[in-house]
Order: sequence, then structure tokens, then C-alpha cells
Amino acid sequence: MEEIRKKRIFSGIQPTNTPHLGNYFGSMINWVKMQEEYDCAYSIVDLHSITVRQDPARLRRQISESYALLIAMGIDPEKSIVFVQGHNPAHAQLSWILSCYTQFGELSRMTQFKDKSQKHADNINGGLFTYPVLMAADILLYQADVVPVGIDQKQHLELTRNIAERFNNLYGETFTVPEPYIVKSTQKIASLADPTKKMSKSDENPNATVTVLDDRDTIMRKFKRAVTDSGSEVRRGEGKEGIENLMSVYGAVTEKTFDEIEKEFEGKGYGDFKAAVGEAVADSLLPMQERFRQIISDKSYLEKCMKEGAERAYAASRRTLQKVSKRVGFIVL
Ligand code: TYM
Repeated sequence: MEEIRKKRIFSGIQPTNTPHLGNYFGSMINWVKMQEEYDCAYSIVDLHSITVRQDPARLRRQISESYALLIAMGIDPEKSIVFVQGHNPAHAQLSWILSCYTQFGELSRMTQFKDKSQKHADNINGGLFTYPVLMAADILLYQADVVPVGIDQKQHLELTRNIAERFNNLYGETFTVPEPYIVKSTQKIASLADPTKKMSKSDENPNATVTVLDDRDTIMRKFKRAVTDSGSEVRRGEGKEGIENLMSVYGAVTEKTFDEIEKEFEGKGYGDFKAAVGEAVADSLLPMQERFRQIISDKSYLEKCMKEGAERAYAASRRTLQKVSKRVGFIVL
């Protein structure tokens, strides 16, 4: 009997800082849910992170912590492939090949490249420019059908699709053309200090982000200080981006709709609402934080998971790399 192939999911996160609520509610919470139905591969993308300067000791620690966090969040390393990108050399190999099928003009149009080169004007390196090609390689290596991400990665996904289609047109069906999976209400969680900006790991204002490892007091304090408008009603509307952002977070935790939230807080002010969001977030993160502390202190377990993840990632991607190598005319031994 022919085996029905489950759809493949791929996604990744940079280990540059502790994941924040944008990463968690915008993307990672879906990674956990998708494990039930799909064949999933999730990666800590260390290669991507050195496009901006990192302190080596800190980066090493962040890679382990990010990996442990994925497991603590509920990603099961027995079920899903959980691995560190640099542990599978196929990513860098395919990235080189795909870079020869990606145009300079396409990469120049990437808004993330433009933003980051403004921010790091003294270090506009080649890696920053070809970053989206490596991302395409990550996804295409595993023949991913669906890629759960926040809206900020949509343009990179479109480029990935273009590269895949271009290659398929030249050489015949080689890559699955992936679809982004973006949940509208949490596609862009905003900074708590400036609701017009996305919550970002590189934000220098500590009040702008809540990380998934922040303790209850810190979470409560940051939500209390969250920038909102001068009104008092908890509802969406013109000029109420700050409140709408908090509603998105509250909705993600409680699985309530915007309408339900508006009803729940009718007649109550911003102070009550901010405290409720803080409480709900702190409660929902607590079990993960406890599991995280256990996992991160068990070095041998972590190392074992990383090794197995690396082997499984390599096994899952080998065939694609061989196929691509043959198609372009290399000798495959
Ligand atoms: P990264 O590490 O910046 O973010 C990880 C995930 O979190 C999402 N995200 C957000 N979602 C909602 N609101 C926000 N404020 C917010 N900030 C971040 C991101 O969209 C992402 O889904 N290039 C990627 C990592 C990557 C990748 C891949 C992703 C490398 N290869 C292949 C998918 C597939 C990145 O820097 O994500």
C-alpha cells in the first residue's frame, strides 16, 4: 500500500536573544500545535545569526538555551526534528547552489536587508545580503509544504517560492513550493514601548519586549508601562494600536476573540486590562519556564537531543541535496 506522506513543516528562529512574545505568539506557538498533524522540522538558525556581530561565548549559550526552550515549549524531539542549523552542512551547501539562481536585484529589494544595513552601516557584509538564500535553502532542503512565520518573514517566503519555481522550471520538479502560514491576529506583535514598531529581539529599550523567560514581576511591570493612547475603553479603533496589540496578546493566551475581549472589559479601564494581560501571560509561561530550568541543567540530555536532531536533519535533507547536485551537473558519489 502506498504510504500517504504527511505534509512537512519547517521553521526556524535565530538564537540571538531570548525569544519574546512576538516570536512565541507570532510563530512558535503554532510550531507546537502543528506537530500533531504534520511532519515537522524546527531549527535554531545559528548560521543566520552571525550576519551581525555576536559575542562567541554568549552565542554558544544562546544556542543551547533556545534549543532547550523549544523542548520546554512542547516541541517533542522524538516526534519532530529539532536541530541546530550549523549541525547539518547541507544548509550551507544548498545555499551556495541556490545563490547562483538568485538575482542581485531580488536580494537588493529585501526590506529586512535594507533595514539591517541601515542599522549596521559599519558591517554590511555579504552574509547579510545573501541571508534570504540561506533561508530558502533551509526550507527547500526539507521539501517543506508549509512554513509558520510572522508577517516580517513573508517577503523572504515569496523569494523562496520564486527560487523554487525558477529551479523547477529549469531542471524539472525538484522542490516543493512552500506556503507561508501566518495567523492574522498575531502576525505582528508590536513593541510595548512603541506600538507602531514590531517587537524585536534587537530593541535596546528593555521595556519594549517581554521575553518568554521574564519573571512575573517583570512581566507585570512591563505590561503596566505599555504605551497606549489617552483613552480608557478597551476596544480596537483608530489610534488605539497599543490597546489592540495588548488585545492580540491576551487573545493568543486565552484563545478569546477581539469581540469577546471587548465584552469582558466593558466598563473597565486600561489599568485593569493591562494587569489582566500581565497575569494571563505570566501564568501561561510559568510551566514552560519550569521545564526550561530542568532541561537546561541537564547537559547530557541536551547534547543527546542535539546529536540525534542533527543526524535526523541530515538524513531528511540528503536526498534533496543529491538530487539538486545531479540536476545542476555535479558528480554525486
Ligand atoms: P526570527 O528569529 O527573527 O523570528 C522567529 C519567528 O518569530 C516571528 N516574529 C514575530 N511574529 C510576530 N510578531 C513579532 N513582533 C515577531 N518578531 C518575530 C518571525 O516571523 C519568525 O517566524 N529569518 C528568520 C529565521 C529563519 C527561518 C528560516 C524562518 C531562518 N530560516 C526558515 C522560517 C523558515 C528569522 O530571523 O526569524
